[in-house]
This record gives sequence, C-alpha cells and structure tokens, in this order.
Amino acid sequence: MSRFPDNFLWGGATSAAQVEGGRCEDGKGLSHLDYVYYRGPKIPCNFMLKKDLERARAEEATLNFPNRRGIDFYHRYKEDIALLAEMGFKSFRMSVSWTRLFPTGKEEKPSPEGVEFYHNVFRELHKYGIEPLVTMIHYELPIGFVDEFGGWESEKIIPYCVKYLKFLIDEYKDEVKYWLTFNEINMVCAVPWLGGGIVLDRNDDGFEIPKGFRPFAPLPPEMAERWENASHQALHHQFIASAMVVKYAHETAPNCLIGNMFNLHHMYPETPAPEDAYRVHEEKEFNMFFCDVMARGYYPAWILSYYRRNNIHIRWYEGYEKILEEGKVDFISLSYYLSSIVTADPKRQERIGSFIRTLHNPYLETSDFGWQIDPTALRISLNELRDRFNLPIYIVENGLGAFEELGEDKTVHDDYRISYLRSHIKAIADAIDDGVDVMGYTPWGCIDLVSCSLVSMSKRYGFVYVDADDEGNGTYDRYRKDSFFWYKKVIESNGEDLD
Ligand code: BG6
Repeated sequence: MSRFPDNFLWGGATSAAQVEGGRCEDGKGLSHLDYVYYRGPKIPCNFMLKKDLERARAEEATLNFPNRRGIDFYHRYKEDIALLAEMGFKSFRMSVSWTRLFPTGKEEKPSPEGVEFYHNVFRELHKYGIEPLVTMIHYELPIGFVDEFGGWESEKIIPYCVKYLKFLIDEYKDEVKYWLTFNEINMVCAVPWLGGGIVLDRNDDGFEIPKGFRPFAPLPPEMAERWENASHQALHHQFIASAMVVKYAHETAPNCLIGNMFNLHHMYPETPAPEDAYRVHEEKEFNMFFCDVMARGYYPAWILSYYRRNNIHIRWYEGYEKILEEGKVDFISLSYYLSSIVTADPKRQERIGSFIRTLHNPYLETSDFGWQIDPTALRISLNELRDRFNLPIYIVENGLGAFEELGEDKTVHDDYRISYLRSHIKAIADAIDDGVDVMGYTPWGCIDLVSCSLVSMSKRYGFVYVDADDEGNGTYDRYRKDSFFWYKKVIESNGEDLD
C-alpha cells in the first residue's frame, strides 16, 4: 500500500515570467523581470543597481532578455499540457502574469486577451483532469511601479495589487481551487530587487552604493541598514496585500484554498559551540517568521525585538494587526532545494550558490551550481512545520538544476535528477509516516525554463528538454528526458515505484 494519500497532488511547477514569452503580444505590458538581462551561464542577475536598469533601457535593442522569450508557453501551452498529462499530472503549478492582465498595473479593466489566455490554459488543464495551482504573484510587478513608487517599499502599490488579486478570485474561482499569494515571500529580504522591485542604490534618499559592492559580500553597516529597512517595509506591504486577498477569497470563494509560499531554508550548526547553535536558532526563527505572519496572523515577538535591535523602522499599515489576523492562509506551501551550515563567525561564511551564503557541508553532495543536496533536511523541516502550524503542507518547488545537452538519441539521460527526486520523494513519504499532512508535490521546472537567478536556459530542471539556448537560438521543440518516464511511473504507482 502506498504511503501517499489517494488524492495526493503529484505534478510540476513553473512561473509565467520563466515560461510564457509572448512578452509584448496582445497588449501585454512589461514587468520588472523583463529588464533583467543575461550576463553569463553562471552569473547571478538577481540584484539590480540603478546603472544596470539604466543600461537595460538604453540598450534594450541589443541586450539579451531571456524572460521576454521564456519557452514560448504562450503559443505552445496545448502541447506542453499534453506532455504533463502524459506523465499523469494531477496538479500543475503556474502563475498568472500581472502585466498580461493589467499591462501597466493601473488599468480600470483587464486586457480581454489576457483574461481569455488564462481561461484557455485552465480549460486545457481540466480537459486532462489536472488541477491548476496558481501563484498570483511570482515575483513580477509592472515596471512602472518600480519607476514611480520604488517597488514594494511604497504602500502605494497595495490598492492596485489588491484590485488585481481580487479580480483573479472573481474571474477564475470556478476553474482554480488552489491559490498561492506571493511566491517565496521571504526572497524580498534576501534579494530585494527580485522579490520587491527595489533598486537599492536609488539616489533619491542620498544613499550611495559602496564602491566594489558584490551581492552576498558582507555589507557595510549603512548599506545593511538601508537594505533591511527597505526589504522589511516591502515585505510588510506584501503581507498586507496577501492577507486582504485571503480574507476576500474566504468570503467570496469558499470552494478555494489559499496558501502562502516561502523558501524553506534548513540549517545546521558548524560546530557544537553554543554560539553556532544560537545562530541556527536565529536563522530558523527568521525563516519561520514569514509563515508565522501569514499562518498565525501576527508578527512574533522575536522579530519585533530584532527590528528594535537592528534599527529597523517599519511604517505600520493602518489597522495591520486586524488585517493579518483576518487573512490567515489555509495551508503552508514551500520551495525546498538545499540545506546549509551556519557559523557564528560572519567572516567565515562563503557563497556556495546563487541565492544562499553558507559553509560547505562535507557530508553532502552538491549540484552543478553548488546547491547542497539534502533530503533528510526536508523530512526534518516538514516535521517542524507540522509542529508549529498544524496545517496541511504543499511542496510546490524542489528539484535539480543541471547543465544538459540533447543527445543524438534525442533525449537526456538524467539519472542524477532521478536520484535527486527519488531521495526527496522518499523523505516526503517518511514525513507522511511521521504524521505530516502533505497535500502534494510539484517539482520545479517540470519543463525546462528560464532560470530565475541566472536568466539562462542552460540551467535546466525539466522532465522535458526544450531545444533553446541562452541566446534564444534553437527550435524550442520539446523532448522527453529519462526522468519523464520515471516520473510517470512514480505517479502511476502513487509514489510506490521509485526505481
Ligand atoms: C525559486 C523560484 O527560487 O527557485 C523559481 O521560485 C526559481 O522562480 C527556482 O526558478 C530555482 O532557481 P533558479 O535560479 O535555479 O532558477
């Protein structure tokens, strides 16, 4: 008998910016992710300095903007959904693009072509019995909000955003049962541009970026302060918008379930020294805080004291306590890729991946991109989340990014991906045995797509290979990898057959 429940939501995950393409078609507007340009197959692009954004505009005709192309899902969604159906998907995580529906974010009415596009996608999914799981905002925000408001740091975005989110519920509630508000809401604190459209060296408040600044390098104190104030302010605004739509969905669409989404980050102490253990405790509290606010409905005492100690001043939104209390999510959702090691000595932290600064763990293998592979940490974390929130958990991202090429036999023999996914599915089954209520599993990038941190095609996660390179060359044709057939068997056997 399978350890997974009968209605377990097996599937895969994508986001609009990383797959759709069709950037300026049918009146679509541009989002801040459309201005992120490619710099090389291993160079992270998550940070945006003022000069970078100016360059993106000045050289719009010649720079390479892979998010504008995606994998052409806009035109090929029927073929793609047929492939997902062939694997037996029960669930497909996708996001809707704010600027396809409201091109500048300020329109009174949505774009009819945009509205119809998503109806068509949902119809196509239901044709095969696949439940859409929709992220309302997967990082994207209209570029005009970056220019006019400085991104999510300003509360002026909230009314526009809430109008957009309520529209999604009104328009699609009969076709979409499962919703997530903000993708990886904690990323706004790690990468303020990506998560919040915040350009950190805007000069309008007199702040100058230090010479030779490198993302993830220890920050000089004045920059760390600016960074934390801006990102936690932006986060506060996102919490408010999220809680408002959760309340609205509960009142108007009782058939829908709406979750948060955060990047789960599991940490071990480098040594048994109590100082290292305390750092882990702090980091874990910080990681959980994003769920605390969205699932328990209040800011925990710990973070308020952290704000006081670190000179972080939040402009609290009027009535925020009631808004958060009334907008608690129905389930927890998370992305999980890697674990890390924490030391109390900040100078000794090294960067091992494009998002995370950590120390190398000698007991773990790493991906082509330095991400440490650790299924046991997933099992531990699922148990911790159950203990803290007692809510169902949906694992909506997990997977292995790798450099891959299509072989002469027109496939990719990705046994390393199979082994990564197998070990994580086993860990989920163990957590279910431990008593955790896991609703579903949607591995990231089920079809190859544009990497978020690198805006490249060459970092691939898919069961399906897409014939496109970093420069946009290729046929964009789709090919089944070995993992495609393996995952089909996994779903067919409800997680029993993992060989
Ligand atoms: C998550 C994001 O952070 O990680 C995705 O929600 C992203 O959008 C994924 O693609 C993997 O990161 P990357 O940089 O390998 O694409």
